[in-house]
Amino acid sequence: MTFVGTGYLGATYAVCFAELGYEVLGFDVDVARIAALTAGTVPFHEPGLTELLRRNLAAGRLRFTTSYAETADFGDVHFVCVGTPQRPGGTGADLSYVESAVTGLAAHLTRPALIVGKSTVPVGTAEWVERLVAKHAPGLGVQVAWSPEFLQEGRAVQDVLRPSRIVVGVRSEWAGALVDAAHRGILELAAAEDREVPVVVTDFATAELVKVAANAFLATKISFINAMAEVCEVAGGDVTQLARAIGYDPRIGNRFLQAGVGFGGGCLPKDIRAFQARAQELGAGEALRFLHEVDLINQRRRGKVLQLAAELLGCPPGPGGPQFAGARVAVLGATFKPHSDDVRDAPALQIAAALARAGAGVRVYDPAGMANAALAQPGLRFAESLDDAVRDAELVCVLTEWPEFRTADPARLGRLAATPLVIDGRNCLDAAAWTAAGWRYRGLGSRPADRAPAGWTALDQDDPAGRPPLPRPATRPVAAR
Ligand code: UDX
Repeated sequence: MTFVGTGYLGATYAVCFAELGYEVLGFDVDVARIAALTAGTVPFHEPGLTELLRRNLAAGRLRFTTSYAETADFGDVHFVCVGTPQRPGGTGADLSYVESAVTGLAAHLTRPALIVGKSTVPVGTAEWVERLVAKHAPGLGVQVAWSPEFLQEGRAVQDVLRPSRIVVGVRSEWAGALVDAAHRGILELAAAEDREVPVVVTDFATAELVKVAANAFLATKISFINAMAEVCEVAGGDVTQLARAIGYDPRIGNRFLQAGVGFGGGCLPKDIRAFQARAQELGAGEALRFLHEVDLINQRRRGKVLQLAAELLGCPPGPGGPQFAGARVAVLGATFKPHSDDVRDAPALQIAAALARAGAGVRVYDPAGMANAALAQPGLRFAESLDDAVRDAELVCVLTEWPEFRTADPARLGRLAATPLVIDGRNCLDAAAWTAAGWRYRGLGSRPADRAPAGWTALDQDDPAGRPPLPRPATRPVAAR
């Protein structure tokens, strides 16, 4: 099999499918990327991937190329894994990479093959790809299928080898059989580990929609809890406790209910916009109008950090927002989430840039994302280390929940900072420990001054705000119904 496009998605898939035992060829137009992969270097941060890449290169199951002719000749199943970024100046998806990948490949095909789309695309794309194939590889028996991926950065190897489900849109038995053969390795691994991987075989439109619907749901869940955070901030509630309390209901569940600076990355923000744009084209714009609100709630979280910083530092308001002239701020985190070096649409980096634009002296530190952050925001100052960022800062903003920040010793950091003032933009720090070490701590989604008396607010022993547990009666009261 081949993987056309060896960015984050394609490279991970190529390596993992070689690991499953398939003969794999990875293609990309980017010569430097192909050279790096061939030399055993993963050009992005993904735990565990380098080792698998090197092992499979050495085993001879995995190669990389920049030649469409070689790719067409090599594969029976070709996975299209190119990017579908937000269109410049619009909200829809830019399909130009899909178009050039499919036409480039199709023009070189000489025998029946299956082209499987993996890229996240607007519904209707698979049919359009079929028409492209019919035009550029007529009469060869080349067919199309669509199989969305659900991998999360930072745990992508696991997500490919042990997926939560396999979804495939196919139009013929032959295509179904080839897709099945291409996923045998995953199903056999699951069987060996006594697991089941559900397989949903469906039509093109449903397969395409599954991906954007899943991302829309996840984005909505995050914005829901961030909307609750906004209410908690004015009502004096605590969103972290609220999330835990509602999350105990299995119908709601406790995952993706972490309030903070909101979602970023290369998928959720652009996917919910592209989904709305496509629904509008199809005449169902009304149905997805709520996703606009999801986006707005998410954007407001970034502004909230600036507002809170201004309030804590006593900075004056200006016509375009608060003015931070002269304030020294440490921003901890640049990536859109931990265990990734991806800074695309990262709340942390955007907030750092906004603080700097408003006059603050900002120093950013991130354990893995500094090179990408420096490319995206060359005007920002970057610190060598966590300590270097915090030294002499009047305010510390923790905006990505890296373990290095969560486990840092607040007493030691307190001695480095000029003022022990911290905004926990991910509600990820041990508030009690930081407060005990002398820090003035502010999470997002609470108004600490208004909290009810300690002892009556704590839900249980590991209350993240560190308050004492609720006094328990000696005998259990009979539940009143
Ligand atoms: C997402 C989907 O999870 C994945 O299935 C899809 O294939 C691609 O898009 P990813 O972009 O890697 O994956 O990130 P994810 O782990 O979903 O996190 C997205 C953003 O939401 C991050 O910025 C994260 O910090 C934020 N987030 C997540 C929250 O703010 N709160 C939460 O509770 C969970």
